[in-house]
Formats: sequence, structure tokens, C-alpha cells
Amino acid sequence: MKLSLLALASAASAAVITTRDVVFEARNFTASCVPHSAMCFYSLNAFMPGTMDTLGYNCTASGVGGVGILPEITGGTCPPSSRTFDVLRNETGMTVIVSVQVSRLSYTRGAHFIPSEQIQIIKGVTPTGDYTAYVGPKDFPLERIW
Ligand SMILES: *[C@@H]1O[C@H](CO)[C@@H](O)[C@H](O)[C@H]1NC(C)=O
Ligand SMILES: *[C@@H]1O[C@H](CO)[C@@H](O)[C@H](O)[C@H]1NC(C)=O
Ligand SMILES: *[C@@H]1O[C@H](CO)[C@@H](O)[C@H](O)[C@H]1NC(C)=O
Repeated sequence: MKLSLLALASAASAAVITTRDVVFEARNFTASCVPHSAMCFYSLNAFMPGTMDTLGYNCTASGVGGVGILPEITGGTCPPSSRTFDVLRNETGMTVIVSVQVSRLSYTRGAHFIPSEQIQIIKGVTPTGDYTAYVGPKDFPLERIW
């Protein structure tokens, strides 16, 4: 089942009114762009609490960002697992969504909102080497969206 970014985004907003149900934990989350380049890289370990999962799976993705902007991601991968992650932007920040298919027709999805204040332009070692990076907590819970 392919979902539109819009459907995921509205589900992520709806999540704030549901009860807290942590379905994934992100660990060692990083997002940063390369100085002198528009390329940006994401990495995280996606761990599923309350399951047989012990080590989680490492996920990565890359995309093209801008000054002060980290890119949206669709279908970031966590090999060798079938977990995927997406990053959706809106006016106030961005939402990280980790998903896994749990049966033929159903998915478990968790979301975490990153406010814009946690995305900053870092001074580079050279005057033109400034780059954009995530500066929030490395570890955070992702709450069920549906
Ligand atoms: C951006 O998304 C977050 C998480 O879904 C939501 O809480 C926030 O209200 C959204 N901001 C706007 C301006 O839509
Ligand atoms: C987080 O990063 C540290 C340092 O690189 C590493 O030792 C640790 O195993 C990582 N944790 C996970 C869950 O990947
Ligand atoms: C995930 O990455 C961390 C470093 O951040 C590494 O220590 C760990 O072994 C990796 N885990 C797997 C399952 O590859």
C-alpha cells in the first residue's frame, strides 16, 4: 500500500489527539547536510519496544536540502528489515515516521515531530562552509499514528 505524503501528514497531525502509544524508538538520530553541497544525510536506529527486537535496525537516507532546510524523505530504508522511514516537512518543523508492514494489509507506524528550532545552521570551518543540521535529542519515541 503506497500512501501519499498528504495522508501521512494528516495522520501525523491527528496523532496528537490519540493516547500516547510508543511503537518505535529512534536512537542516534542524525540529520545533516554536507558543507559546500546540497546533499543531506539521515541516519537512525529504529527500535521496536515490547517485541523480540534487541538491537533495532539502522536506517539511512539522503536527499537535497537547502539553507536551514533538511529535505523530505520517502522510503528511507533500514536493511535488512522491511522497516522504512519518511520525513515530512510543514511550516513549523518536520515529522519523522517509521513504518513496518505487520500483515498483508496493515502497517504499524510511529511519528515524532521535530520543531524548526531543532534544525540549525552550523558554522563551518570556512566562511562559506556553513551547513544545516539537526541539533535536538539523539533519542526519541515515535507514537502510533494508525
Ligand atoms: C506540523 O506538523 C505537526 C505534527 O503533525 C503539527 O503538530 C503542527 O501543528 C503542524 N504545523 C502546521 C503549521 O501545520
Ligand atoms: C549509537 O551510537 C553509538 C556510538 O556510535 C554506538 O556505540 C551505539 O551502538 C549506537 N546505538 C545503536 C542502538 O545503534
Ligand atoms: C548500527 O550503527 C551503530 C553505529 O551507529 C553500530 O554500532 C551498530 O553495530 C549498527 N547496528 C547494526 C545492526 O548494523
